Amino acid sequence: MSESKTFIASPSPSLKGAVKAPGDKSISHRSLIFGAMAEGVTEIDGLLEGDDILATARAMASLGAKVEKFGQGHWKVTGKGRLQSPNDTIDCGNAGTGVRLLMGAVAGYPVNVTFDGDVSLRKRPMKRVTGPLASMGARFDWKLDEDRLPVEVKGGKLTAIDYVQSVASAQIKSAILLAALNASGTTRITEPEKSRDHTERMLVAFGAKVDVQEVGEGWVIALEGGQSLRGTSVSVPGDPSSAAFPLAAALIVPGSEVTVEGVMLNPLRAALFDTWIDMGADLTITNRQMAGGEEVGDVTARYSRLKGIVVPEMRAAAMIDEYPVLAATAAFAEGQTVMRGIGEMRVKESDRIALMVAGLRACGVEVEEEPEGFVVTGGPVKGGATVDTAHDHRIAMSHLVLGLAAEHPVAVRDPEMIATSFPGFVALMNGLGAKIA
Ligand code: S3P
Repeated sequence: MSESKTFIASPSPSLKGAVKAPGDKSISHRSLIFGAMAEGVTEIDGLLEGDDILATARAMASLGAKVEKFGQGHWKVTGKGRLQSPNDTIDCGNAGTGVRLLMGAVAGYPVNVTFDGDVSLRKRPMKRVTGPLASMGARFDWKLDEDRLPVEVKGGKLTAIDYVQSVASAQIKSAILLAALNASGTTRITEPEKSRDHTERMLVAFGAKVDVQEVGEGWVIALEGGQSLRGTSVSVPGDPSSAAFPLAAALIVPGSEVTVEGVMLNPLRAALFDTWIDMGADLTITNRQMAGGEEVGDVTARYSRLKGIVVPEMRAAAMIDEYPVLAATAAFAEGQTVMRGIGEMRVKESDRIALMVAGLRACGVEVEEEPEGFVVTGGPVKGGATVDTAHDHRIAMSHLVLGLAAEHPVAVRDPEMIATSFPGFVALMNGLGAKIA
């Protein structure tokens, strides 16, 4: 990685311009995994070439698919309709989505696969996925500590399950659905609260039948085992989770106006935009159209006098990755922004509640920490601090955005992880007028 060990964001003049959002990370992982499990050729356009995705691309090659890159974001995966045992341990790097979906993908084949990851991924719980996969018949051999990587997955014959999610997690749902493709019987997953539905949409695009019934605020997803996937073309839309950073910067740096083009607007991903609008943000969406089975649009943010709100807890799943950047903008809002019902933030790439609380406080912002949330009191932000990121890309980018509008520069340690989801972040931001060095 070429990026240096500390980035410093300095108070910036207004940000202006239009940029394209990098490809969506969730859809990029899935396009490679589905392409490798399918029979035939899958052509992918707009693939995010972040480190997390490159780790998944290497994983699919070692599981037997042919994975080729033809140009920027243009990849071809030739699958054999099955996965095979790799020669070596699969290192998923920093990617929770990569490893959790892959454990489900391999579980239904007669393979032995050991998965590992970096220091952050080795700290994250895996039983939430291996538990349901074990009840389908897969076996797991923890190499160091139970519930943590590295783990060996021993796949084979699986039986369908009925599973009720206790947390709204697309990673758990997706791992079960991928395993269910090769299980005998019909697997049913009940989500009392909906999580992102990219897997369900992509299963259909690859020729599988999935039945989805709405129930209350959630849904029940049923998939009959023994279905095979056929290669197809995937056009990856822009990632709303990445688009959030330049848009956030525009909202808090006076005089700014920034457009991010081609942002995916799937309602299970775009709740941050609703939340910002509730806070008084001048945010407009134009050029709405369908691309790759998802609605996309160009999102324009202009500098706004934000006001604090109580973020509806029902939105948590649809913006779970966006609370760090929301908190950075809330630091400039008038009054309190209350973010609750987000305990899941503590088991992401880092304990994101603890890290945001520490980082914001270091920058002079008043924050109250709660077990499952936090409350930010906005006002002028002092900055003038060096912040720990625990190798978490979104913690790093959130504090860099904050530093652009603070009174004094904000430095972030270990920003290399930004490349997992947003390669070229600093160049893109500086191209808009930001001062990050
Ligand atoms: C993801 C699901 C979410 C999210 C992650 C990507 C996915 O995790 O935080 O960044 O692509 O399925 P959970 O399913 O654990 O909530």
